[in-house]
Amino acid sequence: MGYQSVSNELVHLTENEAIGFLRQESGFATKAIHSGYRPEQLLCRSIVAPIYMSTSVSSASLSQNDNKGNEFNTENPTRIILEQTLAALDNGKYALVFPSGTAGQSCLMAMLKAGDSILCGSNIYTGTIELFRETGVDIGLEVNFVDMTKPDEVKKALKSNTKMVWVETPSNPMMLISDIKTIADIVHKETNAIVVVDNTPSSCYFQRPLDFGADAVSYSITKFMNGHNDVVMGSISTNSKELYEKIKFTQQITGIWPSPFDCALVIRSLKTLALRMERHSLNALLIAKFLEHHPRVSGVLHPALTSHPQHKLALSQCYGHGGSLCFYIKDAKLDETKRFLKHLKVFMWADSLGGCESLAQAPLLWFVVPTSFSDEEVHDLGFLENLIRLSCGLEDPEILIEDLNQALNAL
Ligand SMILES: Cc1ncc(COP(=O)(O)O)c(C=O)c1O
Repeated sequence: MGYQSVSNELVHLTENEAIGFLRQESGFATKAIHSGYRPEQLLCRSIVAPIYMSTSVSSASLSQNDNKGNEFNTENPTRIILEQTLAALDNGKYALVFPSGTAGQSCLMAMLKAGDSILCGSNIYTGTIELFRETGVDIGLEVNFVDMTKPDEVKKALKSNTKMVWVETPSNPMMLISDIKTIADIVHKETNAIVVVDNTPSSCYFQRPLDFGADAVSYSITKFMNGHNDVVMGSISTNSKELYEKIKFTQQITGIWPSPFDCALVIRSLKTLALRMERHSLNALLIAKFLEHHPRVSGVLHPALTSHPQHKLALSQCYGHGGSLCFYIKDAKLDETKRFLKHLKVFMWADSLGGCESLAQAPLLWFVVPTSFSDEEVHDLGFLENLIRLSCGLEDPEILIEDLNQALNAL
């Protein structure tokens, strides 16, 4: 058996392929480890990329005809290594990193002009909704919301001034899936707007939206991509030189870059992305299947379950599902939901997702549910009193399941 067939055989054995998700392309893990940096680039030949803390570069070695060196503070080598790795992992040509996911989103928003319109999914990460409809509207943008799971509705909602369509799939926390290719085709046919996919919950291991026609992919690197709950960062990847240059220009004039130290931590983290995502995914799937049959649970939201409303669509555009899922505690009021969270011993009651540590939260208690949201809006998002979101970490699945079991049984 050749080397290639051995690795394909191993990939084939993953749970996600057995469920019917797309077959993971060979070479992802190797790209994650080698694509941004090679030891030959440096005299010292260190096998790990160094952290360049310098905020400026010397112009002394430039040729006489070249009067322009690297831009002061915008071309940090550690950051460039990270950006090259991120671009390669998304099957993209370019990537840029930001000090948070929200900063990347703000940069994209800042490229728009007063009078331009954003068309945004109505049931996505509430921080994004708030950014667009509070700050966006304050600076003169028009912001419209639509059910992104319904491409016909998306088509109807497009306007002549629509300049950016914001898709988050799977959505956080409700796990709704939108059809990236169909939406991109409609938007590109009807307008000159860009389609941006927030790919935070899947990471580029389980979904690569540029392959499906998205113009740009946005990440909260803070979550699975870094995966250790110790860095806040964002990124944007694209294949379009024009778009990349526009974003880079806006980033430069607004001055939003992460530190080289944080970049080095993320370079380190990406090397284990494939391994980590497989374990997050397996843990979440085993937990979803366990919860599905628990008498104190009235529903589980996880795209790999056949009960998920967009299960088939998820299979057709993803290589698997990450570590997040939601479930409803049967007939629980908020007090009981809080008691469940307090009973947990391994899962920690905390916001965020994507790290090694398993976390649980009731979206209704989230700090990111903006005060500007009415009770009715919160209800329409599906944030009921008995809804729990889990971020399944990398611990042993049987221990996580037992933890949930004892907390549910204690109610
Ligand atoms: C889907 C999604 N996008 C963007 C963000 C914002 O990212 P950050 O916290 O890095 O600013 C989050 C944060 O939870 C998120 O869940």
